[in-house]
Parts: sequence; C-alpha cells; structure tokens
Amino acid sequence: GAPVTVDISAIDAGQKVTFAWRSLPVFVVNRTPAQLAQLKGLAPRLLDPDSSDTAQQPDFAKNETRSIKPEWLVIIGLCTHLGCVPDFVPDIKPEPFDANWKGGFYCPCHKSRYDLSGRVFSGVPAPKNLAVPKYHFIDDTHIQIG
Ligand code: FES
Repeated sequence: GAPVTVDISAIDAGQKVTFAWRSLPVFVVNRTPAQLAQLKGLAPRLLDPDSSDTAQQPDFAKNETRSIKPEWLVIIGLCTHLGCVPDFVPDIKPEPFDANWKGGFYCPCHKSRYDLSGRVFSGVPAPKNLAVPKYHFIDDTHIQIG
C-alpha cells in the first residue's frame, strides 16, 4: 500500500481522528499534558510497558509515549486480540472499568484495555500493545503514514 499524507491541523487537544491507511484505521490523537501525565506510573499494570516487542512499533516509538512527538499518538486502531476497533476512552471512567483504569482505548469485543499510548494492560485477552505504523512528520501539521 502507498503511504498516505494526513492533515492533523484540525485535531483539537484531547481529540482523536481516524484515518484510513492500507484499509486499516489509523488513530491520530492529540494528547494533552494531563493525558500524557496519565502514562506515568502505569508500568506495573502493563504487559509490555517498555515496548520490548519490536514487531509492535518502529524503533522511534520505543518510548513511554510510543511516538515521535510526545503529544501526537499515531497508532493502528485494531485490537491485538481478534482485531476489533477499540473505543477511544480518554478519561477516567467509573465501573465497569477497573480502579486502575486511567483512560485510553477500550475494546468492546472482549474488554481489553490499553493506555493512551496503546500499551495493553495485564489480565485482558489482548496479547500485545497496539501497533504503531511507520510514519514521519512532513511539517507541523502533516504526517505521512507508511
Ligand atoms: Fe479486542 Fe477481543 S478483539 S478484546
């Protein structure tokens, strides 16, 4: 599939927009400082907090934010369990989410939870973090995916 260039200038802070690349949904999220702060301290709850599974992201995304620029998350929106499209749940929610849930992505098919970097929580069906595609910034408001 060919690379695709997307305009991110209209994505407000805290919002997610879904783009199509190779028939896959790619989520682009403009994370707020508060949302980035939620990533801290989650490691004990996560299956692969350090993104050690090299198949799930390029080397440039092997960091806590799993991204090039901290605020911008670019991630394939397919659950690593059986491929459902997870919901973007950016805020802390009460039950049925567990007490340690800080928001992120929630798969409605079998209740897998991911943080706002797409890192999967332990104890859910999904076996891996959400995949980060290859991408780069063309300028401040355009990303080329692929
Ligand atoms: Fe997401 Fe099963 S497909 S939890």
